Amino acid sequence: MAKVCDTSDEWIRERSGIQQRYFVKEGTATSDLAVGAAKKALDDAGLTPADIDYIVVATMTPDYYFPGIGSQVQAKLGMGTVPALDIRQQCSGFVYGLQVSDALIRAGASKRLLFIGAEVHSGFMPFSPKTWDVVMGRSNDEISKEERDWNSKFRHLVVLFGDAAGAVVLGPSENKDTGVLGFALHTDGKNVESLYVPSGGFAYRPYFSEAHAKEGRYVPVMDGKTVFKTAITKMPEAVHEVCAKVGLTLNDVDLIIPHQANQRISEAVQKALKLPDDRIFNNIYKYGNTTAATIPIAYDECKKSGRIQKGNLICFVGLGAGFHWGAALMRE
Ligand code: UT7
Repeated sequence: MAKVCDTSDEWIRERSGIQQRYFVKEGTATSDLAVGAAKKALDDAGLTPADIDYIVVATMTPDYYFPGIGSQVQAKLGMGTVPALDIRQQCSGFVYGLQVSDALIRAGASKRLLFIGAEVHSGFMPFSPKTWDVVMGRSNDEISKEERDWNSKFRHLVVLFGDAAGAVVLGPSENKDTGVLGFALHTDGKNVESLYVPSGGFAYRPYFSEAHAKEGRYVPVMDGKTVFKTAITKMPEAVHEVCAKVGLTLNDVDLIIPHQANQRISEAVQKALKLPDDRIFNNIYKYGNTTAATIPIAYDECKKSGRIQKGNLICFVGLGAGFHWGAALMRE
C-alpha cells in the first residue's frame, strides 16, 4: 500500500489493526467467492445444495448492478429454482440477514436455508492497471506522482477493505432454548452521506457517467470519524438492548463477535462493555474489513478453534452504511 499511496504499514497497523488483506484476481466476482463459501458451509453441515430450499445473500458489491448475486449463486450451485434473495445492508448485512433468514424459517417458508455474506471490494479501488500490478506484487515499477496523488486522495479507504465471503446453513432449532434468540436492529438514514457511493445510482441520468468516473465518484465516500464515533456508541447499546429483549444480561453472553471494521472500534466496544479479552473476538488483522463477510468468517473461525462450545451464548453486532446497525443473540 505504501508503494502506491501516501501511507505506511505502521499507520495502518496502529490506526486500524490491519496487517494484511486479500484481493481477488481480476475476473473473480462476488458470486464466485459466495459459491466457494457456500460449498464449505454445506460440507460442514453435511448437506448438499439439494437440501437447501432458500438462499439469502448479503452483499453491497454484486457482480452486476442488477440482479443481485442470489441468482448467480443459485445457478452456479445447480440449485434448480429455489428462491434467492439479496439484501443490501452493508456492514450490518449479517445481523440483518440473520433476522430475515430466521423469520423465513419461523414462518415456514424455508426448512433449510443458505445465508451468505460476500464482497469483492477491489472493484471500487481507484487503482489503474499499473497500480494494481504493484499492489498485487506483479511489478516493482515506481508509479507516477500523478497516480500516487490520485490514490492518496482515497488512502483512508483503500487500506481498510479486503475481499472475502462467509456462509452459514440455517434450519429449525432443536428446542426453543437454542438457535437465534432475538434481535435489536436500527437504521438512521440521516447519515447516508457519511458512507456511500455517490455515483452509479438512479439519482442521476444516466446513472453512470464519464464525468462521475473522472471524479472518482465510484469510490465510496467515507467520513471515517463519524462512522467510528457512531459505531462505538451504537454497538454497545445494541448489545445491551438485545440482551434485555430476551430477558438476559451481558453477563450471560459468552462471546461477542463484532463486525470487523477497525481494531480500535472493537477495543472501544470492549471497553464500553467492560469485557475481558476472551469475551470478544477479533480477526481484522488477517482480512481487513470485509463488510458482510466479516461476521460469518469470524464465527466459523471461533467454531473451528473451539472458542465456541455447545450451550454458549453468542452475540453478533455491527454497524455500517445506512447507517444500519444492530445485534443478534444466538445460543449454540
Ligand atoms: O464498516 C464500516 C466502514 N467503515 C468504517 O468503519 C471506518 C471507521 N473509521 C475508521 O476506521 C477510522 O476513522 C479511519 C481508519 C478511517 C481513519 O482513522 P482516524 O484515526 O479516524 O484518522 P483521521 O481520519 O482522523 O485522520 C488522521 C490523519 C489525517 O491526517 P491529518 O489531517 O491529521 O494530517 C489523515 O489524512 O491520518 C491521515 N490518514 C492517513 N495517514 C496515513 C488517513 N488515512 C491514512 C492512511 N495513511 N491510510
